[in-house]
Amino acid sequence: MGEIRAGVVGLGQGGSHLRALQLTEGARVVAVCDLDRALAERVAREHGIPRHYTALDDLLSDDGLDAVVIATPDHLHGQHAIRALEAGKHVLSEIPMATSLEECARIVELAERAGLKYQMGNQVRYAFCLRDVRRLVSGGAFGEVFYGEGEYLHNMGEVLARRSPGHWRVAPSNPQTTLLGGGPHAIDTLRWLMGGRFVEAQAYHAAQRSEWHTLHTTSALFRTDSGAVAKVTVSYGMVRPYCLYFSVYGTRGSFERTRDQGEATEDTVNYLYHDALSGASRMIPVTLPNWRNPSLDAVSARGHGTMEVEQACDFVRAIREDAEPPLGPREAFDSIAAGVCALRSAERGGGPVRVPSYEELSGAVASEEGGRRP
Ligand SMILES: NC(=O)c1ccc[n+]([C@@H]2O[C@H](COP(=O)([O-])OP(=O)(O)OC[C@H]3O[C@@H](n4cnc5c(N)ncnc54)[C@H](O)[C@@H]3O)[C@@H](O)[C@H]2O)c1
Repeated sequence: MGEIRAGVVGLGQGGSHLRALQLTEGARVVAVCDLDRALAERVAREHGIPRHYTALDDLLSDDGLDAVVIATPDHLHGQHAIRALEAGKHVLSEIPMATSLEECARIVELAERAGLKYQMGNQVRYAFCLRDVRRLVSGGAFGEVFYGEGEYLHNMGEVLARRSPGHWRVAPSNPQTTLLGGGPHAIDTLRWLMGGRFVEAQAYHAAQRSEWHTLHTTSALFRTDSGAVAKVTVSYGMVRPYCLYFSVYGTRGSFERTRDQGEATEDTVNYLYHDALSGASRMIPVTLPNWRNPSLDAVSARGHGTMEVEQACDFVRAIREDAEPPLGPREAFDSIAAGVCALRSAERGGGPVRVPSYEELSGAVASEEGGRRP
């Protein structure tokens, strides 16, 4: 297959995807789209991109596009991905996949039915400091995993300082939620590290509100399909530097990350323990690059290290080789469904909520519609 011609919609975080795609062999960004015309024009001019649009439908009618990157506000991802797939475009979407189970299921259905690639962009799966952990856990080195923790702690004041007043993240009509905003970084990455599916969720919001009147801190517990327990905390209110913390505990070994992490391009410390060291009184510290893959040193690593470049490479490879993307629609469904159900629990003040699988959900929709399976 020839070069993949991509368009990017939403030119805040979309700018990172644009740069990543421009560094990806076999891909070319040929169009950008943003409601803000001046921004779309400027980005197109600065990056030598031939076409720019202000309306998503105009971008989607562009016959010269194979794929679309969606980086619009969270609550729009579902409808934007659905429209892009209906228009026959492959999709790389920012987290979350969507904010409702129905939209998530529709995305899986459309991608699979049309043979289009859909990938959710949780770039944290490409964090250099986590890839060995994933390899160790999935290879069985830690034995049977029974507990893990994920935390996404990102002070909202720091995020909003770079954005205009009244930003969508804190707009009263549709504020960004904790578990489906930054939450997928913690939920999806923890699920990937531990393996398996989260089948039941319960969560609480801290009652305190931010200066923008939004709920800012939520803790969720998940039961996994193997009977393990996973705990996720997401906070935009903690007065501390940015932190993506994970731990994984198995019957033979343990992994814990430091909470003092520094910048994406700095080194970090992971702590490991194994029963072969039985009796040792210290965890083993392992120092390694945080989010930057040293073998990609030629790539100028910005705020997110090299993670988005590796993510874009996988997306383009999946299209060109007709392969399943690593975080394809079913994987994305499993993580975002867990987040949607945990949020439902927190909104009703706690209590368990069952997380449906894609098969269960699509089967239920089909029987409601008189037996027509999607
Ligand atoms: N993966 C990450 O690390 C990461 C980091 C930052 C943001 N994000 C995600 O990226 C998405 C965008 O966040 P952001 O911080 O860039 O927000 P932003 O407000 O800075 O940028 C969003 C852009 O989308 C445009 N837009 C909104 N609605 C549109 C529409 N219907 N059609 C075309 N353009 C539209 C806006 O004009 C704006 O320029 C969010 O989902 C956010 O959660 C992810």
